[in-house]
Amino acid sequence: MDYLRINKDAWEKRTKLHVESTFYDVDSFKKGRCSLNPIELNQLRSVQGKSLLHLQCHFGLDTLSWARLGADVTGVDFSSDAIKQANALKQALGLSAHFIESDVIQFGKTNTQQFDIVFTSYGVLCWLPNLADWATTVAKSLRAGGEFHLVEFHTVSDLLSGYAYFPNSEPSVEEEGTYTENCDGETSTVVTWSHPISEVVNALINAGLTIESFSEHPYSPYNCFDGLEFVPDLGYQMLYNGHQVPLVYSIKARKVS
Ligand SMILES: C[S@@+](CC[C@H](N)C(=O)[O-])C[C@H]1O[C@@H](n2cnc3c(N)ncnc32)[C@H](O)[C@@H]1O
Repeated sequence: MDYLRINKDAWEKRTKLHVESTFYDVDSFKKGRCSLNPIELNQLRSVQGKSLLHLQCHFGLDTLSWARLGADVTGVDFSSDAIKQANALKQALGLSAHFIESDVIQFGKTNTQQFDIVFTSYGVLCWLPNLADWATTVAKSLRAGGEFHLVEFHTVSDLLSGYAYFPNSEPSVEEEGTYTENCDGETSTVVTWSHPISEVVNALINAGLTIESFSEHPYSPYNCFDGLEFVPDLGYQMLYNGHQVPLVYSIKARKVS
């Protein structure tokens, strides 16, 4: 199965909807809104003057937000429409950024630049069959002493939504709509893999990175799953038997040498 072709087609379709959506609210972004959330802003702290590689950057809102905060940014995504939109936004806003259209693993094989920071967030790992290759890409892209930051949806919430926690040998192949409010019943075939947190942690360790912090968060900044309820000032939560479900986790790791 050509999972890259199938998923790329889905993301080309999704990107068109996302750029127009209230969910991504490009108009307010153009007026100066930062698209980053407190979880990643607090974890990365100052990016001023640092080189930052954003893997699976979608159409660049977060990448360009890091640029507005002073980082020298490079974004990578395999969707040509996403990269086109990211470049158009960059130009319209007069920001400096470099966007590359590539599968993330292919990028890791050919890239020779090393960055101070590698960042990736919210809905990225499920598209990748092999986290060992992904972690190698991350490690190779960092300079010695550089930092990796992952902010990802928690796999326990996937479990409660009916997905496997422990990987099946076969990926999940589904006909699915997207998460923005303007989806309007439009669906695409998507191929995804579940990755338990132990697999993520072990992939990073095996790639030679040192994990410096691991956090779990009961609130998601995004209303993109069934069964979420809004809590003012905190975000969206999910309750299971009256208890909060972990919705997001974040990892900071370093390439020590
Ligand atoms: C859920 S989005 C990431 C969300 C992002 N934080 C945002 O909202 O701006 C997932 C992104 O991964 C990209 N993607 C999926 N598989 C990929 C791959 N193998 N290589 C590169 N990009 C990929 C998609 O095109 C999409 O832009």
